[in-house]
Amino acid sequence: MCGIFGCILKDEKAAPVMHAALKRLEYRGYDSVGEATIYSDALYIKKDQGKIDEVHRIHDLDDLPGNIGVGHTRWATHGAPTQVNAHPHLDCNRQIAVVHNGIIDNFAELKSELENRDHIFKSRTDTEIIAHLIEDTLNTNPSLSLADAILETVRRLNGSYAIAVISTREPNKIVCARNESPLVIGINENSIYCASDIPAFLPRTNKVVIVNDGELVTLSLEGFEIRKIADSSTVARESKLIDWTPEMAVKQGYPHFMLKEIHEQPASLRNTLRIQEHYLELMATFPDRAREVFLVACGTSYHACLAGSYAFSKLAFLATYPVIGSEFVEQYGKSVNIDSTILAVSQSGETADTLAAVNIARQRAATILGLTNTIGSTLTRVSRVYLGQQSGPEIGVAATKTFTAQLSVLMQLALRLAKKRGKISQDEMDFLEEKLEKIPDNVETIIKTQEEKVKQIAKKYKDAKTFFFLGRGISTATAYEGRLKLMEIAYVPAIAFPAGESKHGPISLVEPGFPVVFICAKDESHKTLIGNIMEMKARGASTIAIVEEDDEEIKKLVDDYVEVPKGIPEVLSPIPFVVPLQLLAYYMAVERGHNPDMPRNLAKSVTVK
Ligand code: AGP
Repeated sequence: MCGIFGCILKDEKAAPVMHAALKRLEYRGYDSVGEATIYSDALYIKKDQGKIDEVHRIHDLDDLPGNIGVGHTRWATHGAPTQVNAHPHLDCNRQIAVVHNGIIDNFAELKSELENRDHIFKSRTDTEIIAHLIEDTLNTNPSLSLADAILETVRRLNGSYAIAVISTREPNKIVCARNESPLVIGINENSIYCASDIPAFLPRTNKVVIVNDGELVTLSLEGFEIRKIADSSTVARESKLIDWTPEMAVKQGYPHFMLKEIHEQPASLRNTLRIQEHYLELMATFPDRAREVFLVACGTSYHACLAGSYAFSKLAFLATYPVIGSEFVEQYGKSVNIDSTILAVSQSGETADTLAAVNIARQRAATILGLTNTIGSTLTRVSRVYLGQQSGPEIGVAATKTFTAQLSVLMQLALRLAKKRGKISQDEMDFLEEKLEKIPDNVETIIKTQEEKVKQIAKKYKDAKTFFFLGRGISTATAYEGRLKLMEIAYVPAIAFPAGESKHGPISLVEPGFPVVFICAKDESHKTLIGNIMEMKARGASTIAIVEEDDEEIKKLVDDYVEVPKGIPEVLSPIPFVVPLQLLAYYMAVERGHNPDMPRNLAKSVTVK
């Protein structure tokens, strides 16, 4: 997964604009970067392996001539992160430059076909074949326009792609196309942009055109033209104003996007409470009618599904199956059918494993519902009904505000389902809705009053070799999420499991000083959890608890604790209880000298299976 960008500017150099935009896309991949521009009918290119700042120090990414260019920041899939494999990739005659995000499945056979026609390849990437294929098409039929040659080219590509192409043959145009990988256009009177994500050009314009799968767009200073790849027919599409401020795309003074986004949770949670009632009602009708309901997602989004399944059962008396996206096909591919409903949860709306599960279910006529943070994403187009969770852009690779927003939407859905199924009284409904309205304030209080405390706990345990995260009931999902955060950004091996499982094996790992984190929501399992704390203490474990502020019983028992406001209903508890765990992972990463925004080997959303 990479970040692509292109721009045409009336009276400005493209390179500095590309450099800044690629910096804003660096969360999408950061193992190599490159830019290409056109000036007086020649292509100029700079690219190298490494992070943008490192490459800029060596090559000066602001110093290329010309007001038109394409750029790329990479997360390698085909070909190691090297200078020759960095994008843009050129044709044999250095007249065409291509940047690409995605994977071309049939690149090998296309490459040998082109090599048989004497094309010389420099890199080991799948992307380079696109440049040579365009060149070959134009050589075969020189009367073709650049856009038509690219139309013919992309029709031969199998796989996922968002590409942007410039050529000295038509030096005032950028042609871009999309299949599966995200692509958006930004416009204003003196410039036009294409990018993998809106934050790339947000400081310059919030006038956006979403490009759909199977579309090709030709950009020039006169405007943009969208055509369907299948039949070249033109598509009319209005731009829309995105109510994201440029600041949303920059760190607002926080040292990292992750910490900024943890602090943005009260605001993003309030946004979720503004979701249109009729959409929630509409979406709730499907699980109510379905013979079976699968909650499908990956990583952090899967943990939201796990918590959702507890809430659907506890509030609406509806059993649902939380399923990890990459396992759905194996686990339920044969049994899913027309009476099944799939609620797919994905903040990016582009995660390949989740979309693959959705595709299989669609082929078997199941009903697809979507919950996502990215309007215009693939998930929104394959869903019968989808809900946008309105968290704003999440730049940090570690999902934080999008997780708590997913939980809030799933809880609202569970409440409507409970009402629809007559499983909840109006008083209970009003009570829980009132508590849900208070959750953003609860989270604000936790951040204000407990952040410093979490920082001290992170300092205390920064050299720990491993961690346990334990919870009971719906807090099991919170424990899993705490574990994932610590692993993915602080690189601390950690294990999470329902606390009742300790004595069935994992407790054998515990020795004096072994840190164990307990998520202690005030629910029916509270008493039993105290027993689990005693079990671990008896083996010398260092016990850390996330407790309600008035939970003196557990506070007296454990070595360290972090408080959340009291009186939070159990089904809503994962939202406030996960915030201290997000902060713990963040400060552990900082204490251990890691960059929380760019965890190694990871990137924001995984569009490869
Ligand atoms: C979470 O911090 C990770 N970035 C990752 O597990 C993520 O949740 C997963 O890849 C799913 O992404 P999605 O919500 O965009 O589908």
